Amino acid sequence: MKIELNENKVFFNNGESVQEIHPFWLRERVDGDEFLDKGTQQRLFDPSTMNGEIIIKKAQIKNGFLEVDFNDGVNSKLDITKLETEFSNKDTVIKSIPKKKWDSTLKNIKNFEYKEGFFESKEMYDLLVSFYEFGFVVIKNVPTENNYIVKFANSIGSVRRTNFGEHFNVKSKSNPNDLAYTTLHLSPHTDNPYRNPVPCIQLLHCIENEVKGGFSTLVDGYTVTENLKKDNPEFYKILSEVKVRFKFTDRSVMLEDWSELIHLDDNKEFKQVRFSPRLDYVPVLEKNKLDLYYKARKKLSDLYNSEKNRIEFKLTPKDLMMMDNYRVLHGRTKFDPKEGKRFLQGCYIDFDSTEGKLRHLKRKFKL
Ligand SMILES: [Fe+2]
Repeated sequence: MKIELNENKVFFNNGESVQEIHPFWLRERVDGDEFLDKGTQQRLFDPSTMNGEIIIKKAQIKNGFLEVDFNDGVNSKLDITKLETEFSNKDTVIKSIPKKKWDSTLKNIKNFEYKEGFFESKEMYDLLVSFYEFGFVVIKNVPTENNYIVKFANSIGSVRRTNFGEHFNVKSKSNPNDLAYTTLHLSPHTDNPYRNPVPCIQLLHCIENEVKGGFSTLVDGYTVTENLKKDNPEFYKILSEVKVRFKFTDRSVMLEDWSELIHLDDNKEFKQVRFSPRLDYVPVLEKNKLDLYYKARKKLSDLYNSEKNRIEFKLTPKDLMMMDNYRVLHGRTKFDPKEGKRFLQGCYIDFDSTEGKLRHLKRKFKL
């Protein structure tokens, strides 16, 4: 990628094609002291209110900077490396971490160890990279006193409060408003598909786990989706096209949201899965289409519930698991409350927390 000049016009050459950069695009990026607040990196002028045509009167390239004089009397030195980064037009931090597909054969996943100064450490950076690679991470030795999970979450970003509270206690109880609060086996699911937006990340902190059962289970929705796309393209297509209704009702709230079970981004790439088959309602479609939909959902359910795709492990006290609720499905095996206590605490945070922290640590450690 290269910046080139020709008669006071600035061009961007990406190796394949050359295109002129609009003078106004450059004018918006002037960064002298009177135009950009150095602390916040926010503009001190409002380009949306500027009128009149902006023309470049003079331009030259010197020592890695593009020096431009504009016809409105403003001149600026623009860092060429920064401009080139912008041309790539993508998040160079998060998108550069490739997702790693995994199934039941996943071995030697790195656990992280909580310690003093953890949230501002290089280890926290490594943890977040690992989180984006695998969609989950386990941190050992996290203090369990005084709802520490909330402090943990707020040290990465901000807790996402829901109608279950700032955090929730996962214990079996009578008259539960969710099956999580029973001793039943929970098949793989994503949390809260009925919210808009769906909470991005779930933290689950093990406080006590004395029972023989109650294993945690995880499935990589990304791996399953990619395999379905390859092996059953017709199923993949319908599941990524038909929006279904998810709902949650209790005495104080009625939540509802519509989405595909496999949600793709603008480039038709994997973005999010929602799966909670006790809460989904497909709309009335033509019978043949519903026929295909039900076959596809059954196949998806078989894959999510297959041993081949599931990892199973026991959380022990002080373990904190962080899961990407858009990618990874979680569940647990049943347990017998007569054997002892099982007590987990959970809460949610959103991607802006982890992404913001990751970019900050990358800048801090010059990585
Ligand atoms: Fe859950």
